[in-house]
Amino acid sequence: PVVTATPSPHANLAEITPSLPTAPGFPPYRLRRYGGFWLTDLLLKFVGASHTRFRPRPTDVILVSFPKTGTTWLKALAFSVLNRSAHPPSAGGDHPLQRNSPHDLVGFLELAGEDDDGLIYEEIPSPRLLATHLPYSLLPHGITGPEDGSGGRIVYVCRDPKDTLVSFWHFHLKTTATLQRMADVGGASSAMPTFEEAFELFCKGQSVAGPQWRHTLEYWEASRRSPDQVLFLRYEDMLLDPSGSLRKMAVFMGCPFSPEEEADGVVRDIVELCSLGTLKGLEVNRSGSTMLGLKNEDFFRNGTVGDWSSCMTPDMAARLDGIVAEVLQGSMLTF
Ligand code: A3P
Repeated sequence: PVVTATPSPHANLAEITPSLPTAPGFPPYRLRRYGGFWLTDLLLKFVGASHTRFRPRPTDVILVSFPKTGTTWLKALAFSVLNRSAHPPSAGGDHPLQRNSPHDLVGFLELAGEDDDGLIYEEIPSPRLLATHLPYSLLPHGITGPEDGSGGRIVYVCRDPKDTLVSFWHFHLKTTATLQRMADVGGASSAMPTFEEAFELFCKGQSVAGPQWRHTLEYWEASRRSPDQVLFLRYEDMLLDPSGSLRKMAVFMGCPFSPEEEADGVVRDIVELCSLGTLKGLEVNRSGSTMLGLKNEDFFRNGTVGDWSSCMTPDMAARLDGIVAEVLQGSMLTF
């Protein structure tokens, strides 16, 4: 069993979970409000148990994202960077990403089974690559508390909330029926919302790990305070300059590309291997399934900037932008 010295601020969370405020959310999973965020029972369970179940290592890299902001891509890129010696990304080679969903190669902290006593993490060799959708303020204290780097490093990706919502909308249409069958994730379902209803809920922050802008603001502030501990990336910048973003990640993760690797085109090969076009076309991602019984293909759509205009009127966009801008006022963060 894993033992930590710091008493958990969430020690009684399991006890109080049933009495936490609930409200309709988008997607229509059962959400409860805790620490200023709307969370599923699955996330809450991990928050409550993480102080005893998760023991950070200095070499850990934790990938963090609000859902639908580029998690799958980030997982593929980080896995390829970290494992490039054992698994060269060159075209035609045999790479784990050609046989596995990025979600099967990099697991979510919150999906570790409740009864395994955290051993699922302990068994992973260093350097561990893990992921989560949790807000910064609810991460295990062992990750965020130490300033000496012993809690590992965090890579965060953010995305324009308008595109995030539209991405979530399409994902919801394909997956909510599956997820609602799972007590931890969906539980008792509410009716399927129209896009207009989903928009209203999202604007109120009532989405998984929402409000998105508060989620992002916490990581933005942490990255400003501790740039060696938190790398803040933007989905839109990654699309514009995938190679530059990849180099930044490699430096931050402590494994920069050598001049020889640059000359050999390793950066180009990773970018190509992890591109939406490549991953989406792989047999494993067209037919396989991953965590929570979700289909791999549901994580790949069109990956563009500005697709919000396909679902949202200019007035809706302006309203959401206004809500976000008000919260971010004075923070120097813009989407
Ligand atoms: P769209 O729905 O806008 O196309 P997440 O991985 O956090 O669930 O986010 C899913 C979004 O990332 C989807 O956006 C999806 O198409 C996009 N995406 C998935 N893999 C990608 C990749 N390799 N490159 C760029 N975008 C990707």
